[in-house]
Formats: sequence, structure tokens, C-alpha cells
Amino acid sequence: MTKLLAILPIAFALAAVACGPGKTVASPIDVADPAFAHGKELYTANCNKCHGYADPHLLADDKWPEMVEEMGTKAKLEAADRQAVLQYILAAKKQ
Ligand code: HEC
Repeated sequence: MTKLLAILPIAFALAAVACGPGKTVASPIDVADPAFAHGKELYTANCNKCHGYADPHLLADDKWPEMVEEMGTKAKLEAADRQAVLQYILAAKKQ
């Protein structure tokens, strides 16, 4: 029994690493420019289904396109919507 209790925190730690972004934000960052409003809407509705909202500062600008392709596909977003989410994340990262 004591052995099991000792293993539990390690199991939880591994699960947290395996299942989602390392750094998250409580709510999506506001971007004043209305050009990014649709991307923010899509991000808000789709990107916290499996893990918390990934902090836009988590990745470099040149790493986000591939990540949004992969995650947008998981979220079943169309190509145009993945583009909108990507543009929103890059704009939010500059805030
Ligand atoms: C169907 C579930 C699911 C949805 C929806 C989803 N993700 Fe993920 N996400 C995951 C899983 C699982 C991982 C970890 C493993 C991997 O990369 O597949 C992950 C990892 C990530 C990471 C990597 C974090 C790191 O620490 O390297 C980022 C960033 C991310 N997601 C962003 C997003 C964004 C942005 C969206 C919305 C377009 C999204 N996710 C939607 C399941 C999902």
C-alpha cells in the first residue's frame, strides 16, 4: 500500500507531461485588432478541449505553423480556420 502511494504522484506527473501543453494561460489573450477576432473565437472554442489554452509564448513564431496544423487537425478545423487560429496566436504572442 505504501508503495502504491509513493508511485501515484509520479504517475500523475507523467500523465500531465504526456497529455498537453507545458505552459497554459487561464483565458485566451485579447487582441484589439478585429482582424484576429475570428481566430480568437476558434481558439477559444477548440483549443482547450483536451488541455488548457497553450500560452502563445510557448513556441517560437516559426514553430507555431506546424503545431497549429497538427492541433487544428486534432480539433477538426478546416484549413482556413487553422490559418485564422495561427494568425491569432502570432498576434497574441506580440501582446
Ligand atoms: C483532440 C485533443 C486536442 C485538441 C482539440 C487540441 N489539442 Fe493540443 N495537444 C493535444 C495532445 C494530446 C498534446 C500532446 C501530444 C501531441 O503533441 O500530440 C497536445 C499538445 C499541444 C501543444 C504542445 C505543448 C508543448 O508543451 O509542447 C500545443 C502548443 C497545443 N497542443 C496547442 C493546441 C491548439 C492551439 C489547439 C487548437 C487548435 C489544440 N492544441 C487543440 C491534444 C489536443
